[in-house]
Amino acid sequence: MKIIHARDYDHMSRQAANIISAQVILKPNSVLGLATGASPIGTYRQLIEWYRKGDLDFGQVRTVNLDEYVGLAPEDEQSYACFMRRNFFDSVNIYPSNTYIPYGLNPNAEDECSRYDAVIRALGGIDLQLLGLGPNGHIGFNEPADFFTKGTHMVSLSEATIQANKRFFEKEEDVPRFAYTMGICDIMQAERVVMVVSGAAKAPVVRDAFFGPVTPRVPASILQLHKDFTLVADEEALSAC
Ligand code: GLP
Repeated sequence: MKIIHARDYDHMSRQAANIISAQVILKPNSVLGLATGASPIGTYRQLIEWYRKGDLDFGQVRTVNLDEYVGLAPEDEQSYACFMRRNFFDSVNIYPSNTYIPYGLNPNAEDECSRYDAVIRALGGIDLQLLGLGPNGHIGFNEPADFFTKGTHMVSLSEATIQANKRFFEKEEDVPRFAYTMGICDIMQAERVVMVVSGAAKAPVVRDAFFGPVTPRVPASILQLHKDFTLVADEEALSAC
């Protein structure tokens, strides 16, 4: 595990964007695993800037997103599909047909999860997975549990996650209670994993995840065992370590 100490959110975002841009330059048809949440927005912003300058080309890149809320259509403003278009896809030359996100409106969880795992397999796996960190240690929507779940699955969101994510919705009741998420195995099989974390509120969970035991009660802790994991965190996020 490597730790890159960033000064603040902007510095963290540029460092992570540098790693992703090196990946795309070295392998133009990379499969990028992408994340939502506030943490990666600055990274996407930086990648967009370099694309506009002509330094990056996403014409052959394929992307697979970590997760999606169950019950939200891709057109819904709160869906992760919409988040990705708004914060990244619409501003670079990625072909929409090369972007994959679980389909929140598939009512058949078993069918949607096996379909999504087949998508990841057909792409040949993930070259670089970008992650944020949930306040309870979740990655994607792999919530604290008694065991790690391997493949894509439907999760019932924890109270902590509902509380953390309500800031993106008008009312707490609007936060979906279920989500489809890639599993721990899908994430661990990525060639390379990069996580962005910022702010003092995440300091305790950064300590527990990366300086404590590996346990499914803190799902991100499994990344300590990944062969090429880089944590890009700012000073505040690292302040409890
Ligand atoms: C959501 C997403 C996660 C993300 C987490 C942290 O729950 N499913 O993939 O990492 O939020 O979000 P933030 O970066 O806004 O703290």
